[in-house]
Amino acid sequence: MKVAFFDTKEYDEIAFKKFMEERNIEIKFFEPKLNIDTVDLAKGYDAVCIFVNDDANEEVINKLYEYGIKAIFLRCAGFNNVDTKACFGKIHVYRVPAYSPYAVAEHAMALYMTNNRRIHKAYNRTREYNFSLAGLTGNDMHGKTVGVIGTGRIGRCFINICQGFGMNVLCYDAFPANDLNYVSLDEIFEKSDIISLHCPLTPETRHLINKDSIKKMKKGVAIINTSRGGLIDAQALLDGIVERKIGSACLDVYEEEAELFYEDKSGHIMNDDTLLKLIAMPNVIITSHQAFLTHEALENIADTTTQNILSFFKGEQGNANELCYHCGNEQNCKKLRKEKCF
Ligand code: NAI
Repeated sequence: MKVAFFDTKEYDEIAFKKFMEERNIEIKFFEPKLNIDTVDLAKGYDAVCIFVNDDANEEVINKLYEYGIKAIFLRCAGFNNVDTKACFGKIHVYRVPAYSPYAVAEHAMALYMTNNRRIHKAYNRTREYNFSLAGLTGNDMHGKTVGVIGTGRIGRCFINICQGFGMNVLCYDAFPANDLNYVSLDEIFEKSDIISLHCPLTPETRHLINKDSIKKMKKGVAIINTSRGGLIDAQALLDGIVERKIGSACLDVYEEEAELFYEDKSGHIMNDDTLLKLIAMPNVIITSHQAFLTHEALENIADTTTQNILSFFKGEQGNANELCYHCGNEQNCKKLRKEKCF
């Protein structure tokens, strides 16, 4: 089992080494992200392991197939960067559906609290012996209304945290459960002081936060996005901030992050005007897709990914972590019948 591992960071190697040795899997760590320019690195391997900003589009999939790649192992939950339809019948796809929903939910709240109470500003001030409080006023969280879009694993952890702060929680999900306070999407937009996104990026959710939805929101609303950048139309967000409609934006993800996030670009001229302006805003806080980054999450990712690799090469049927474009469709989804996708 030889696996080409793309977009490697030092913390990946540390987390994976233990499991590779225990489970006898050969992994070659490559720094570049998988895309059409780097796909040749996969020649001679049985499978590839990729992360959130690798680009497994149809052209890349066809090349991987030509090179004899049998499986793609995503070491993350989201799979919007893999063309699962192009993979069907050719390359099996596995993911890590859950590794630590707490890590992401806690980071979402950390971003909001930092921005709300201006902790990042205060930290810089006191390091320079500036003990002024001017401009550091925040809002009580207790009693405020938070709208949670997507009430899966991470959304639910976030809801628990909000309830601990005494906030009122409104929920929206395309597939609502029966134990939460669900309302329409419009009600979320109209009534929430804070909106936090925890749904996947799909054609339906792309630019869920846009010019029209922002119009419906309360003045001063805070928007938190730790899911995928494409959920927000960044230009509309920026306009909403400039118009003083949006009071706070807390972003761990950005639609055009692929070439920027996870890299040190400090010595470079940035070409993305929208991102530059967002970063310059005093009420915007941005982290570079780090919500997952806890020791517990890294260990769980490495554990589940290497289990997925073993499961695939042993030919196990019905692995719940395998996915294809038929997933969840009762007629076509073989996984529901405990079979392999193809
Ligand atoms: P999950 O699958 O447990 O929950 C997603 C929820 O979204 C489900 O309840 C689902 O019904 C709902 N949903 C699906 N389509 C929807 C729609 N059109 N409108 C509203 N809700 C919809 O996923 P989980 O583990 O909670 O992760 C959520 C997202 O968080 C992932 O899709 C991923 O994009 C992102 N993520 C970000 C990380 C980071 O480091 N920033 C790390 C891990 C995940």
